Amino acid sequence: MRILEIKIIFISSVILVTAIESFQPPYSCDSTNPLAQSFPFCNTTLAVDQRVQDLVSRLTLDEKISQLVDSAPAIPRLNISAFEWWSEALHGISESGKGILFNGTLTAATVFPQVILTAASFDAYLWYNISQAIGKEGRAFYNEGQALGVTFWAPNINIFRDPRWGRGQETPGEDPSVAESYAVSYVRGIQGDSFDGGQLKDGHLQVSACCKHFTAYDLDNWDGVTRFVFNANVTEQDLADTYEPPFKSCIRQGQATGLMCAYNLLNGVPNCADYNLLTETVRGEWGFKGYIASDCDAVAVIHDDQGYAKLPEDAVADVLKAGMDVDCGSFLMNYTGRAIQQKKLSESDLDRALHNLFSIRMRLGLFNGDPTRLEYGNIGPEQVCSQEHQDLALEAARDGIVLLKNSYNLLPLPKAETVSLAVIGPNANTSETFVGNYHGLPCKNITIFQALGSYTKNAVYSQGCDGVNCTSPATVEAFGVAQEADYVVLVMGLDQSQEREELDRTELVLPGQQEILIKNITLHAKNPVILVLLSGGPVDISFARDDPRIGSILWAGYPGEAGGIALAQIIFGDHNPGGRLPVTWYPEDFIKVPMTDMRMRSEPSTGYPGRTYRFYTGPKVYEFGDGLSYSNYTHEFVHVTPDKIYINKLLRPAKAIKRSATDRYALVSELGKELCESKKFSTKIAVENHGNLPGKHPVLLFVKQANLTIGSPQKQLIAFRSVRLEAGERAHIDFVLNPCQHLSRANKDGLLVIEEGYYHLILEDKEYPINVVL
Ligand SMILES: *[C@@H]1O[C@H](CO)[C@@H](O)[C@H](O)[C@H]1NC(C)=O
Ligand SMILES: *[C@@H]1O[C@H](CO)[C@@H](O)[C@H](O)[C@H]1NC(C)=O
Ligand SMILES: *[C@@H]1O[C@H](CO)[C@@H](O)[C@H](O)[C@H]1NC(C)=O
Ligand SMILES: *[C@@H]1O[C@H](CO)[C@@H](O)[C@H](O)[C@H]1NC(C)=O
Ligand SMILES: *[C@@H]1O[C@H](CO)[C@@H](O)[C@H](O)[C@H]1NC(C)=O
Ligand SMILES: *[C@@H]1O[C@H](CO)[C@@H](O)[C@H](O)[C@H]1NC(C)=O
Ligand SMILES: *[C@@H]1O[C@H](CO)[C@@H](O)[C@H](O)[C@H]1NC(C)=O
Ligand SMILES: *[C@@H]1O[C@H](CO)[C@@H](O)[C@H](O)[C@H]1NC(C)=O
Ligand SMILES: *[C@@H]1O[C@H](CO)[C@@H](O)[C@H](O)[C@H]1NC(C)=O
Ligand SMILES: *[C@@H]1O[C@H](CO)[C@@H](O)[C@H](O)[C@H]1NC(C)=O
Ligand SMILES: *[C@@H]1O[C@H](CO)[C@@H](O)[C@H](O)[C@H]1NC(C)=O
Ligand SMILES: *[C@@H]1O[C@H](CO)[C@@H](O)[C@H](O)[C@H]1NC(C)=O
Repeated sequence: MRILEIKIIFISSVILVTAIESFQPPYSCDSTNPLAQSFPFCNTTLAVDQRVQDLVSRLTLDEKISQLVDSAPAIPRLNISAFEWWSEALHGISESGKGILFNGTLTAATVFPQVILTAASFDAYLWYNISQAIGKEGRAFYNEGQALGVTFWAPNINIFRDPRWGRGQETPGEDPSVAESYAVSYVRGIQGDSFDGGQLKDGHLQVSACCKHFTAYDLDNWDGVTRFVFNANVTEQDLADTYEPPFKSCIRQGQATGLMCAYNLLNGVPNCADYNLLTETVRGEWGFKGYIASDCDAVAVIHDDQGYAKLPEDAVADVLKAGMDVDCGSFLMNYTGRAIQQKKLSESDLDRALHNLFSIRMRLGLFNGDPTRLEYGNIGPEQVCSQEHQDLALEAARDGIVLLKNSYNLLPLPKAETVSLAVIGPNANTSETFVGNYHGLPCKNITIFQALGSYTKNAVYSQGCDGVNCTSPATVEAFGVAQEADYVVLVMGLDQSQEREELDRTELVLPGQQEILIKNITLHAKNPVILVLLSGGPVDISFARDDPRIGSILWAGYPGEAGGIALAQIIFGDHNPGGRLPVTWYPEDFIKVPMTDMRMRSEPSTGYPGRTYRFYTGPKVYEFGDGLSYSNYTHEFVHVTPDKIYINKLLRPAKAIKRSATDRYALVSELGKELCESKKFSTKIAVENHGNLPGKHPVLLFVKQANLTIGSPQKQLIAFRSVRLEAGERAHIDFVLNPCQHLSRANKDGLLVIEEGYYHLILEDKEYPINVVL
């Protein structure tokens, strides 16, 4: 692939000829290749389906088999290039995966905050802007010859079900509707669609997104149970209103072109071998048109670890017949030939997979001649780490960071140059923690300590602990530093040594002696201290919440390359924080709940507390949606029309209205789309900033049933929007609600139902009753 490019540059009549080495992006159907030009699959005036059909019909069996793995080799006789399906872009173009090279002219890419922090902004426009930037950077890597493929395996939209999960940091949190909205924004942005969708139609993709990991995957390793062998037992009810919605939206509304099946089994069947799931549900019901990839080595796992397939060839047949298309790994390369020989599957099963795969490569424009001359071909290297993208990374970090406590209005600190600071902790002077996992090489590295240094020259740093595990706190040095300063900023929490892929936590408290160090430092500080926590998952910091010597607490997730600057701006009041927690923070006691118990709903008779704000009944350290600001905001319902919703008007009651022992209900599927649309109603909300600073404030609207029936969520987020308000400004928000979508829940059979009775819309401290009449 290495070519010599001769660049001729004219500089005021002097001709410089420079030879620079560069790489050519891999593509097929070269316009200078007469043979290629004779193939109908290279003819861009034909429909993609027709072209793919032609292409697949020309492949030998061996060639077909070669294309079923992530590293698909070239087929020179057809001028078909190699293609690498595995690239990552969770929160920026990543070094993980095999498709992206950071060793050419591009040596960095914008590292946005880890997803859990980005989610805390509750701002779908921000999510969209970020993924649009990521997509541009991905295309730029390709155009620059530093990408062997442009199919990115993001977003990760599994529900953050258990606080111990090492990969919870990669997700938008615990609420299905937030995950749905995040998924749709991410996919539309990265693939090149508009925010509202519909712009792309069947046209060219900027790059391809992949909704992962389908499904019920949110455990890596608990008490000896690994993700490779875990059989997730999930009820129809939980599947319908927790695990499936993000994937359904990612595919239906987002129009994602990729889906990844997860390692684990779901109710006894490995996800990648589940025909009902992949073919009936995803392709059939949801109309999915893209490709389905296995998680890496997930096909081998079905035979080697799960023993679900007796022979390797059975595993091949299981996944291809179920509807999977490409194996991340080499298992299908090795065993597909024998599976066909043994008549465990037929060549037509391969053709189906190949059709899906080549369709996406064509939609990416890689069979149209040199793609750098085509749509998206003009996205140049200057897009990568552009000022605009770096500013967006800063905006995302600032908008996500959550102020959890601010006693005595300790923050923001006075901006006097004479203020002296002690900046203490294992995360205080490292930028490595900021990037989380699945990251690329950042455009810049600035630590919190360095960023605070631009506000005051009197900042002193002490690491405090040997690492975040804090096995030996350097107390004497840290106390000395703390004692001398006007204010102490402690930068504690977790990093990837505590939570990551294949490493779930076993505790929810701070690791090692962090708590002891923090408490002891408060005893030496002149003023109440400021505690900054970096972590993906929640931490039980009730000691800090309740300790008056800890004045302020900021949670900053893993805030990406601009995280240090964002924190400094918040601490000194150049930014007014407004992030809100996207997950429940549970007490340490929660670790008695087996991580393998997938049930969302509580079971009082056995003491099972349930999970997430929707169902968890136990005590909390902090709640979903918690987050303070330097401003106080007030909220009110301006009007809701109507407050009585008659669902029965157009129905033949005998058909649609059911009765259980306690209530009357209707199945949403029987109401039909038209009726649901006609019952939409509008909620006008006013929100006002009473503070002295402008701020961005996410408004969250929940609903709860007045009479909770068994299995109803305690409350459910139904709408959210982030608004920017000047000091003293008041604004209105209109939420349009659809009773079929927003007032329904799943019943035991996994069917959506609307129950008769009163519901309360909940807006912070305000409630508004509406009455549903069937
Ligand atoms: C491409 O297909 C169109 C439509 O069938 C046909 O008219 C045209 O001749 C084809 N071009 C080439 C180069 O074969
Ligand atoms: C396609 O053909 C062109 C022109 O002959 C050649 O330079 C290129 O390497 C070929 N690509 C592949 C993948 O075979
Ligand atoms: C970059 O890495 C790839 C894959 O390891 C290698 O093939 C290529 O030669 C490297 N490029 C440079 C400029 O070192
Ligand atoms: C997203 O980008 C658009 C267009 O550049 C801009 O108008 C808008 O303010 C941005 N929104 C956010 C939240 O970043
Ligand atoms: C899941 O269900 C199977 C079959 O009922 C049972 O054997 C297994 O122990 C269950 N697993 C968990 C984690 O509950
Ligand atoms: C496939 O075969 C290659 C070459 O023999 C080997 O290195 C690889 O481990 C095999 N992969 C699997 C999953 O069996
Ligand atoms: C803080 O980290 C930076 C970047 O790693 C390093 O250059 C600097 O020496 C560190 N400062 C202190 C006081 O350790
Ligand atoms: C940032 O730090 C990482 C190591 O954490 C390093 O690989 C990278 O080169 C640094 N980037 C810059 C722009 O200094
Ligand atoms: C604690 O962390 C340090 C630095 O990351 C590491 O060197 C050490 O091995 C860890 N100790 C334990 C007990 O995990
Ligand atoms: C730190 O606090 C603990 C009790 O929380 C105490 O036992 C210990 O002596 C203190 N260490 C120092 C160096 O002050
Ligand atoms: C917000 O209002 C509460 C209650 O009235 C008050 O205690 C708090 O100090 C106010 N905060 C700010 C930042 O004005
Ligand atoms: C709640 O249920 C009880 C008993 O079924 C009923 O009497 C009451 O009217 C219901 N309340 C509301 C607000 O729907």
